Amino acid sequence: MNTNNNYEESSRVELLRRARTAAGKAYAPYSQFRVGAAVRTASGEVYIGVNMENRSYGLTICAERGALQSAVADGHTRFSEIAVVCPDAAQPTPPCGACRQVLSEFMHADALVHFAGGNPEDVVSTTISGIYPYDSLHHLRDNA
Ligand code: THU
Repeated sequence: MNTNNNYEESSRVELLRRARTAAGKAYAPYSQFRVGAAVRTASGEVYIGVNMENRSYGLTICAERGALQSAVADGHTRFSEIAVVCPDAAQPTPPCGACRQVLSEFMHADALVHFAGGNPEDVVSTTISGIYPYDSLHHLRDNA
């Protein structure tokens, strides 16, 4: 295994760990479905987010968008990798459609995406283009 793979593996493990820990702080009294996200900036920092529900259900904010918002508020607009953990799910659960669109705003098509449910051993790893193919923004960039 080369150095690059070691870096990628340790980055993935750290993001999944941070996302799982963050999920413990989710505010999800209505769905009882906790979500934690950890995103890595292009410069290597990690920001976390959790889902934050509201009694007016439609105002709920997903964990992925919470993590991005926190990072953007600190001046980051490029991200290389994200992990999403739903500890209450039986299977790995990918980001919702709205979050896929928002993630694609700040992440390249080949940026890494990992998602897991209650079992930390069961992780799906893919890319932004894997969860959000034929994205217009990436298409425009790639053909510029
Ligand atoms: N949720 C997220 O935080 N991220 C997703 O990608 C999917 C859904 C939250 C919203 C809501 O609080 C709960 O999970 C159930 O849908």
